[in-house]
Amino acid sequence: MIVLLTLFALDFLRTIQQDTHSMHWHQTYNPLVTTPKDSIVDLLHRNGTEQENTAWRCVNPDYIGDNARTSVALLKVHKTGSSTIGSILYRFGIRRGLSFIMPKKVSSYEYWPKTIDKCYQEFYPPCQQGRFDILNIHSRYNGRDILTKYMREDTYVIAPLRHPMDQMISGLYFYGFVNRLKMISKTIEDFLEHPNILTDEDPAVMWFMWNSMSYDIGLDDFDIPKGVKKSYLISKPKYIKEIDRFLNWTEENIDFFLIREKFDESLILLKDRLGWRMEDLVYFSLNTAAEPPKRNRRDTNRLRIKTEEFSYIDYLLYERMKLKLDRMIEEKGAELEVEVSKLRSLNKEFSEYCLEKVEVDPNLLGAVNVLSNKLKNEHKHDRCCFETAIDEKPYYNFIKAYMRNSCKLS
Ligand SMILES: *[C@@H]1O[C@H](CO)[C@@H](O)[C@H](O)[C@H]1NC(C)=O
Ligand SMILES: *[C@@H]1O[C@H](CO)[C@@H](O)[C@H](O)[C@H]1NC(C)=O
Repeated sequence: MIVLLTLFALDFLRTIQQDTHSMHWHQTYNPLVTTPKDSIVDLLHRNGTEQENTAWRCVNPDYIGDNARTSVALLKVHKTGSSTIGSILYRFGIRRGLSFIMPKKVSSYEYWPKTIDKCYQEFYPPCQQGRFDILNIHSRYNGRDILTKYMREDTYVIAPLRHPMDQMISGLYFYGFVNRLKMISKTIEDFLEHPNILTDEDPAVMWFMWNSMSYDIGLDDFDIPKGVKKSYLISKPKYIKEIDRFLNWTEENIDFFLIREKFDESLILLKDRLGWRMEDLVYFSLNTAAEPPKRNRRDTNRLRIKTEEFSYIDYLLYERMKLKLDRMIEEKGAELEVEVSKLRSLNKEFSEYCLEKVEVDPNLLGAVNVLSNKLKNEHKHDRCCFETAIDEKPYYNFIKAYMRNSCKLS
């Protein structure tokens, strides 16, 4: 109750503060996108027309030589919106001729749950400096010391997180586990109480389900005593210190956590830290499930309690990092809101220009329908639209071709 009241009061104070701030802002705000007249469409296409622009560079070269940080590792945390962030990184990287960590043979998905040191020899060599600039493949993280053997010392490590219940439910549907449960007349609740109904047959189910965000970013047996993990029933108070040690480790080894529920806010704050421009962030959502399953409030509460008991390390991780983000949001104040709405209007303007519709794509991965962006006929050959709209799998193929070609397109 006290917490609620405090939050309420803070919210109220913030509203007042924002009002005074935004008045001041209105007069001094200097839009990041060069002049107010520049539309994102013009900006991205300034260098050449659609027909001429065969070099796969759809962005105004004026700002490519800026002071942006160019070495970024995205930890691909399952079902958190990492494909959309990956697309932003992909476009940022190829426009600047950066080196990506990219496997020669197998698809990027097949590495998970391996860590990059376990598969290094299978990557295309970096193009310059002997180090990679960008990591954007499905591998598990095992710390900065190992990462910087392959990537630059100043690599900025980022990881997206999502509310653990939604993340888990999304995975249960996406990987087809709900269908498997249905076949044996069981529910998600049954699974949370007796995970062995799925894991007896396939122990790997646990990698996707049990504290899976923590697992993707480095939780391993070094934190949880061996044997205990296998039982999936760790008593929280007993291991709270190990978990705290793990959370401290993630804070030391990961520079920035994006929170799915505050996606645009996270992107803006990330942009500030990387010295990127607003145009670098333009995105269309990728790999989004068509119909998120709905539940009533009581069922949702029951499920929340059960998922919290089941994946409490993810809950502790999420709560800690969300609090951290909320503090950054508060620090930036009204300026952040202005930039968030700017980003949304850029996204809207560019998607109205490029996209015919967003539809279910039968070729995409997953046991649920996944939405895909369909380009307007007249912009089918527009590089900027194409790059922004394509799904994860085809853009991996483009990165692969680009790395094979020593960081050159065309
Ligand atoms: C695109 O930019 C490059 C580099 O600034 C320049 O040499 C080229 O002429 C531009 N192309 C067009 C069509 O404006
Ligand atoms: C985690 O970090 C905090 C703050 O630095 C520290 O007080 C705490 O003892 C650390 N926990 C463990 C288990 O090392």
